[in-house]
Amino acid sequence: MKHLIDPMDLSVEELDEILTLAQDIIKDRDAYAEKCKRKKIATLFYEPSTRTRLSFESAMLELGGSVVGFSEASSSSVSKGESIEDTVRVVGCFADIIAMRHPNEGAPLLASMYSPVPIINAGDGGHNHPTQTLTDLLTIQREKGRLSDMTVGLCGDLKFGRTVHSLVKAMSRYKGIKFVFISPKELKIPDYIISEVVEPAGIPYEEVTSLEDAMPNLDMLYMTRVQRERFFNEADYVRLKDTYILDEKKLVPAKKDMVILHPLPRVNEISVNVDKDPRAAYFRQVMNGKFVRMALILKLLQIQ
Ligand code: CP
Repeated sequence: MKHLIDPMDLSVEELDEILTLAQDIIKDRDAYAEKCKRKKIATLFYEPSTRTRLSFESAMLELGGSVVGFSEASSSSVSKGESIEDTVRVVGCFADIIAMRHPNEGAPLLASMYSPVPIINAGDGGHNHPTQTLTDLLTIQREKGRLSDMTVGLCGDLKFGRTVHSLVKAMSRYKGIKFVFISPKELKIPDYIISEVVEPAGIPYEEVTSLEDAMPNLDMLYMTRVQRERFFNEADYVRLKDTYILDEKKLVPAKKDMVILHPLPRVNEISVNVDKDPRAAYFRQVMNGKFVRMALILKLLQIQ
C-alpha cells in the first residue's frame, strides 16, 4: 500500500503519471465522474484549511465518492486524548483513504505506520505539503509548458513555509533548474534543504534579500505568506510580515512570460492590483489543486 507523506515518496515517473492523469481529467471530467463510486475519503484536519480540505472533498465528490471527517481536533475524540495511531485505525474502518493535516511534523508519517488505508499528508507543521507541490507542478506545467530549464524565485517565509520545502525537493529532480531564495535572514531556507536536497542535486542557487534585484532573471516567482502560526513571538512576526509586498511597480522589470504562483492564503504579500496581471496564476493554481488531487486519489486507490 502506498502513502504520500513526502514529495520524494513519488518517483519522477510517478509524478509525471499523476500530472498526465490530471490533464486528462481536465479534458474529460465526465469520464471520471463515477470512478470512485462507493469509495470514501476521510479528511482529518487538526489545523485550519480552506483550499486543501475542500479540494480533497471536491475531488472525491467529483469522482463519484463521498466524504467523512473533521475540520478541527476539538470536534473529534482527539479532544478526549485519543492517539493518532488509534484514530487512523478507527477511521480506516470507515474510509478507503485518509487526508491528514496536523501541526506536528511527522504526524502523517506516524499515522501511515498504523493505517489500514493510504494516508496523504495534507501538511505537517513547517515540514512538507506534498499535494500543494503536485498542485504547483501541474500549474507550472500548464502555464509554462515545461518543468525544466527555468530560474525559480521563492520569496517570503522560506523557513516555516512547508510548501517551499516540498516544491524545492520536487523541482530539484528536473534538469536546468536554478533557485533564487529571497527572504530576510531570519526566515531563510533551512540548512538541511540546501545540504540534503539542493547541493547533492548539483543545482545552482543564490540566497538574496532583494526581490527587486532578483526579479528580471526569474521565469517563475513563488510568493509565500509569513507563517504567523509558527512564530514563537508576535513582535518578530509583526517586524517581518510585510518584508515583501509584490505590486505592479515591482513587476515592471519582470519577464513578460514570468508566472506568479502563491499557495494561498494571501495576507499582504501580493497587492490585489496584481491579480489582473495575466502572469498571476494563483487562482488558476487553486483549480489545478482539485484536479491533481483527483488524479492522486485514483492512483493511490489503484483505480484505472
Ligand atoms: N495552500 C493551502 O494549503 O491552503 P489551506 O491552508 O487553505 O489548505
